[in-house]
Amino acid sequence: MPFLNERTFQRYLQEGKEEEFHKLFDEGIKRVEEKLGLEYPILLADKEIKTTTKRVVKSPIDTSLTLGVFQEDNGQLLEEAIKVAKESFSYWKDSDWRDRVEFAIKAANEMRRMKYELAATITFENGKNRFEAIAEVDETIDYLNYYAQILEENRGYVKEMEGRIVRGEKGVSVMRPYGAWLIISPFNFPLAITATMTLGALMTGNTVVVKPSSDTPLSAYKLVSILRKAGFPSDVVNYLTVPGEVVSMVIERNLDMAGFAFTGSREVGHTLLKKFINLKPRPAVMELGGKNATVITAKADLRKAVEGTYRAAFGFGGQKCSATSRVFVESPVFKEFLSILKARIEATAIGDPRLKSTFLGPLINKSAVDKFRRFVDQAQSEGGKILIGGRVREDSRTYLVEPTVVVDLPYTSSLWKIELFVPIILVKEISNLKEGIKLANDIDYGLTAGIFSNDEDEIEEFFREIEAGVVYANRESGSTTGAMPGVQPFGGWKDSGWTGKNAGGPYYLLSFLREQARTIY
Ligand code: ALA
Repeated sequence: MPFLNERTFQRYLQEGKEEEFHKLFDEGIKRVEEKLGLEYPILLADKEIKTTTKRVVKSPIDTSLTLGVFQEDNGQLLEEAIKVAKESFSYWKDSDWRDRVEFAIKAANEMRRMKYELAATITFENGKNRFEAIAEVDETIDYLNYYAQILEENRGYVKEMEGRIVRGEKGVSVMRPYGAWLIISPFNFPLAITATMTLGALMTGNTVVVKPSSDTPLSAYKLVSILRKAGFPSDVVNYLTVPGEVVSMVIERNLDMAGFAFTGSREVGHTLLKKFINLKPRPAVMELGGKNATVITAKADLRKAVEGTYRAAFGFGGQKCSATSRVFVESPVFKEFLSILKARIEATAIGDPRLKSTFLGPLINKSAVDKFRRFVDQAQSEGGKILIGGRVREDSRTYLVEPTVVVDLPYTSSLWKIELFVPIILVKEISNLKEGIKLANDIDYGLTAGIFSNDEDEIEEFFREIEAGVVYANRESGSTTGAMPGVQPFGGWKDSGWTGKNAGGPYYLLSFLREQARTIY
């Protein structure tokens, strides 16, 4: 059966009902506004727990707004939650996979019903504009439906073996879960990425403790509530807010965690992973960022190349692991590319993402703005030139910065190697495609990559040689961004990933399973 992606805005657009979409989104904003400042408990089995220490989470779109008041565990509840998840595994591991399929589909339907409120929550929580926020809810619905479909297609991963029968032996391969997983999710996709890792574990019969980013705990709270309402038992899916340093200490000593799924920076991921497997060998699913390149050849449609690069570099302020951050352009079109790109950037609407006209909202927090300033200073002090942008829009209540293009930066600069996660791109002239591919691969990361060229041989060569898990040619909606579940399985090579089985793809669920070969006489 073909998999149908949820594409809310595009559907309204095709039907000429754009205004209706905006009206629904505005209503979603109102619903979120009505609930600003509420307190949210830790969800541990059927207990709703409040701690003495609280974390008041402000909205980056206006820091005078309190998104919510969240609990701050000191590690004790995290250990308790892992114990609860370990105990519930004793029955959940044998749950009927058909029930899990049913729960996931129910949760997807509930999300569809709450679509605009969930999308507006994301806008308030991390500053994403409405088009990207609704796309994230769509992506989450897709994950739920897609994993349900995959589990169904694989009949719960029980497979009779067809090999030659030896003395009447009959072999059956059964994929089995591991136990309790800790899920650590990032601020940039607080709903979709939390969902993909959580569902990966739950659909395969594992149990979870979900720990969202401290900047964005609300979407994960809503996700866990929806999953529970849809039928996933409360002791199987637990939710907990706890500072990262505390998690790090618990991982170092806790032997009850069977698995660990993490999406975030390479540095934090590596540190946690080392601690996790230091105690004993255990499975981990890691998605660890990128330093993604777009290569533009002389045979490209330049208008498309500019649009795709612009969207991939500056959509959500470059705060995506898939964002384009290095651009390599073949000499004959280098100057023209820069001039069209500059004009495109000049037209950027920067501001409050509650407004339908806004393309670029704020960065997530003050330390992201400080990082932006530091990188701009470093680029200039090392010989780079700011073609456009580079400034912080001073406003004490939000974190707005300009889309920034750096040219002429010597290749010795460390900025070519580190993930920036702010809207800054480095653009370099190349003499041919081979050089572009070589530079694109000259990095420890290997998440996404894009090419613009109208020459099939060039595209073929790029796909063959590029070291990245997700690759696109001529993608105007984002040269390296916007993977859709069931269409572009998303995950990285090299330092960007760990299991090699991409999220939203046919093999993702296998990351959370181990094989048992059963023989029956
Ligand atoms: N899955 C997100 C994208 O492809 C990160 O842009």
